[in-house]
Amino acid sequence: MPEQNQDRIISAQEAKGDDGLDLTLRPRCLAEYIGQEKIKANMRIAVAAAAKRGEPLDHVLLYGAPGLGKTTLAHVIANELGANIRVTSGPAIEKGGDLAAILTNLAGGDILFIDEVHRLNRSIEEILYPAMEDYALDLIIGKGPSARTLRIDLPHFTIIGATTKASLLSAPLRDRFGLTYHLNFYEQPDIEKIVQRSAKILKAPLDEDAARQIAARSRRTPRVANRLLKRVRDYCEVHGQGQIRADLADQAFAMLEVDELGLDWIDRKILEIIIDKFNGGPVGLNTIAAAIGEDVATVEEVYEPFLLQTGFLDRSPRGRIVTDIAYRHLGRAGRPTKFF
Ligand SMILES: Nc1ncnc2c1ncn2[C@@H]1O[C@H](COP(=O)(O)OP(=O)(O)OP(=O)(O)O)[C@@H](O)[C@H]1O
Ligand SMILES: [Mg+2]
Repeated sequence: MPEQNQDRIISAQEAKGDDGLDLTLRPRCLAEYIGQEKIKANMRIAVAAAAKRGEPLDHVLLYGAPGLGKTTLAHVIANELGANIRVTSGPAIEKGGDLAAILTNLAGGDILFIDEVHRLNRSIEEILYPAMEDYALDLIIGKGPSARTLRIDLPHFTIIGATTKASLLSAPLRDRFGLTYHLNFYEQPDIEKIVQRSAKILKAPLDEDAARQIAARSRRTPRVANRLLKRVRDYCEVHGQGQIRADLADQAFAMLEVDELGLDWIDRKILEIIIDKFNGGPVGLNTIAAAIGEDVATVEEVYEPFLLQTGFLDRSPRGRIVTDIAYRHLGRAGRPTKFF
């Protein structure tokens, strides 16, 4: 199977060309941040209460699938607080000294954003515990019997951690976040609003029907919606007068091989292989991976989640099963009935 996830237009993960787009389209304040209403309501209260008490915000943990707006929300929170934000990530902090340097350079009220917080190593986490709890850094000076600990007071700062894999976070670290928010996949009307907002920023005139079409294919993920919008806009510039219209969007999606529910050719291929070679399943993950020439981890982490989430694929004790919805979507007769 050729070049993989990075190049899939419907991939929720950040791709090479996304940085510029992500930055221009990124909402700056809560009012611009579309959807996630419960989180926003809670956030408004937490921010207002912290401001009223003149205290820094409690540490915040944001978790949810790629492309749903965790990094964006971290910056929005900093903006709402009028706070400085320093950005780092779990894998970037290799040594205790790295973390100590970051923490001692923070000022009171600053925000430290730690992306991929589940990838912090344990020894770093241990330094983080007292820093988060008591705003203190315990340094060990010297070695052997003469070693002693020196406690340094830190300014009162806020850590915002983001992760796509909350289950990989150690329990003690998770417990030290006072505010934990789970970002959900977006509802269709919210994604439509995001597409419309982005089109306005890109100065690309967009018909309502076309916004609906793009949103429907976005896998309920803002990053995917923005990427699709950009590709459809390009198509409409070349094949029309720039106006993003539903008929042109249709053609663009046909060319990109993204169907009306946001499945691309790899998704369809996986379903078709299970249908054609394995009677629709159940079939084990290893067998699926071998049949499409991919490793098991990629199938499990990259391809399968969306198929499971949309109900095209089901898990059973004996393996994966293609559901009736998928048979219908692919224009196939229903699942074969088994008599035994
Ligand atoms: N609520 C929202 N309203 C409008 N646009 C949004 C929203 N959430 C995300 N976006 C858009 O989607 C893009 C991707 O969001 P972001 O980078 O914050 O995702 P993420 O959750 O941090 O992803 P990753 O897990 O890959 O780090 C942003 O640049 C922004 O343009
Ligand atoms: Mg991010």
